[in-house]
Amino acid sequence: MAKIFSGVQPTSIPTLGNYLGAMRNFATLQEGNECIYCIVDEHAITVPQDPKEIQSNIHSLAALYLAMGIDPKRSILFIQSEVPCHAQLGWIMQCTSYMGELERMTQFKDKSKGKQAIPAGLLTYPPLMAADILLYQTDLVPVGADQKQHLELTRDLAERFNNKYGDVFTMPEPYIPPVGARIMSLAEPTKKMSKSDANRKATIFTLDSEKDIIKKIKSATTDDEATVRYDRETKPGISNLLDIFSLCSGTSLDELVAKYQGKGYGEFKTDVAEAVVSMIKPIQERYNNLIESKELDEILDEGADKAYSIAKKTLTKAEAALGIGRHN
Ligand code: TYM
Repeated sequence: MAKIFSGVQPTSIPTLGNYLGAMRNFATLQEGNECIYCIVDEHAITVPQDPKEIQSNIHSLAALYLAMGIDPKRSILFIQSEVPCHAQLGWIMQCTSYMGELERMTQFKDKSKGKQAIPAGLLTYPPLMAADILLYQTDLVPVGADQKQHLELTRDLAERFNNKYGDVFTMPEPYIPPVGARIMSLAEPTKKMSKSDANRKATIFTLDSEKDIIKKIKSATTDDEATVRYDRETKPGISNLLDIFSLCSGTSLDELVAKYQGKGYGEFKTDVAEAVVSMIKPIQERYNNLIESKELDEILDEGADKAYSIAKKTLTKAEAALGIGRHN
């Protein structure tokens, strides 16, 4: 039985990329493992957020976690800011990190590029993420490919701390799926599909209407060859749609390529859209039943209590190893 931890930022409604790259695996990993899933609202405020919007996104994300199959009887679901150990171990991880390694993080470089005033939290984002993971003695972290570098840093920090102060943290491994780890933008398929893309046609959100999903997929950038085949280098748009189609329908890439031999992109795109809609619709139906329910708050309260009791033990161990506070 492995210990699983992962988190999603409530910076918008999760995208199809978030779902296919990470969240769909959250539910399947519940089988035979101990899973803890988090709404990482403290990470979200490393860039300015509208208070009303983030409140609403936190509630939606909680309901979506459940709608996507997280079972609160088997797994812990909680909000990061409601368990203070995250910020506390986050500080200890900051003190374990070096400026140089934090400045080298791709996400920091991307998000700070061209900014006059760079929030310090953007730089110290990865040590907080390391704290999230290490607090629960996590074995496996299901994430998309964009989080690989943060996972490597987490391992470096855990190793550095353990070497200096004794065996406090379990060494976590990333769990990156072979297909879907990097779902690309529909408008510019050489770029990652992102929550914050200014082009609304680039990104499918998991609460988009059927009409919008169809429109976005129909307008997805492809190429002039008019042949459905998989080649990430020369046909990034079609290859991305094939990945999406395969994951949403459970049909292999080879079968899909064979099925669309001699057929045009129009028919292919119609079928991709249909597969996405049929996968997303049941999630949206469950979401609509959950979003107004009282149950949601009860689940989050219970989740925060359970998470705290695990996290507190690791935090105390780390503080004792460092010799801060009082320990007999
Ligand atoms: P976030 O909120 O940006 O994304 C949530 C998850 O979705 C994955 N993802 C994608 N996968 C495939 N294709 C895409 N286009 C795509 N876009 C996003 C991400 O890799 C992620 O797994 N730093 C994390 C949140 C975090 C976290 C943690 C994760 C904070 N603490 C501890 C794991 C463990 C993030 O920004 O995810």
